[in-house]
Amino acid sequence: MFEQVQAAPPDPILGLTEAWKSDPNPQKINLGVGVYKDDQGTTPILPSVKQAEANILANGTSKSYMPIGGSPAYRDAVQSMLLGEGHPLIAEKRIATAHTPGGTGGLRVGADLLKTLLPEATVWMSSPTWANHKGIFKAAGFAQADYPYYDPASKTLDFDAMIAALDQVPAGDIVLLHVCCHNPTGVDPTPGQWEQIAATAAAHGWLPFLDFAYQGFGVGIEEDRAGLLAIAEACPEFVVASSFSKNFGLYQDRTGALSIVSGSAGTVAAVYSNLLVTIRVNYSNPPAHGGLIVEEILGDKALTNQWLAELAGMRERIAGVRKDLVKALDDRSVPGDRAFLIQQKGMFSFSGLTDDQVRRLREEKSIYIVKGGRINVAGITAANLDYLADAIAGVM
Ligand code: LMR
Repeated sequence: MFEQVQAAPPDPILGLTEAWKSDPNPQKINLGVGVYKDDQGTTPILPSVKQAEANILANGTSKSYMPIGGSPAYRDAVQSMLLGEGHPLIAEKRIATAHTPGGTGGLRVGADLLKTLLPEATVWMSSPTWANHKGIFKAAGFAQADYPYYDPASKTLDFDAMIAALDQVPAGDIVLLHVCCHNPTGVDPTPGQWEQIAATAAAHGWLPFLDFAYQGFGVGIEEDRAGLLAIAEACPEFVVASSFSKNFGLYQDRTGALSIVSGSAGTVAAVYSNLLVTIRVNYSNPPAHGGLIVEEILGDKALTNQWLAELAGMRERIAGVRKDLVKALDDRSVPGDRAFLIQQKGMFSFSGLTDDQVRRLREEKSIYIVKGGRINVAGITAANLDYLADAIAGVM
């Protein structure tokens, strides 16, 4: 049965971490997977999360199954986080939200559900996009196309080309958009550009599918939802896959959500029932632990404020590291303009390193960077900065 099976290639992002782990070089650096690290190079459990876990441990009474779509308290927490408390879409009960295993789970459940509703649709993705987007929508059976996004020459958003392409997307197709901290480029539309994107969606009738995995890592929880609010203002129907992996540091607890916004409250029950069917045949119901942590923190003012301060600390460290990297490269007179490294948002920098330079850094220096040149800035520490800057100067 299995004699003919060919080995599949390692995952372009998670596979790098496995390779890094088995690298014996003591100076090795992992700038691959998008996971926050502190200046000691560790991914800490946030103190607010520790406190919430202690409360859950003390008060928990059962580990019975979760509802298929997750708990109502989690649903409310997700909707308020995405849109802000009291947003009209919440008051009008126009959102069907299910707790999914991470943002990836939300994307896949959304893709599977949409395949039953829009089987002929093409899914449009930014060029470039997160490698797993392609795999997820392929697995769900969708045809795919790219829209222009990043201009490698200016290292900024090619907004004119993007909007011209979105202007041609037919009604009934699906357009995947990163709400903030675009993965892999770190380049986001401005709020004004988001309004134009939303107006284009509304005018042409394509369905926005928003991937919102880094809320709070750009400018702040509120500022980072500008794109989502613009879409909510203009488009009666849209879909959001969201994640608490990064902003609560709950990576391994797989804590995400899928939210489907309908034009009227009357259709939400039917949409939600189909969502539950999609989930039931996939993983039955979600893992509870991460959701309980989020409920515990967001249900308590003091814990919420503590968490917001911890999130700000992560965001500010990354902003500081961006400046440190620029200075270290300037000190070594590495050619080129580096202002873009400071302007990019979130964990990632699209460094401009070529695939050949990425390969050399890995083979010669044990520095692991995703193909295409995406660097996880949070992986840079005071201890590894000089080694990294010397190595980059060496390959440039
Ligand atoms: C990343 O892009 O590194 C993260 O979203 C983690 C992942 O699953 O790839």
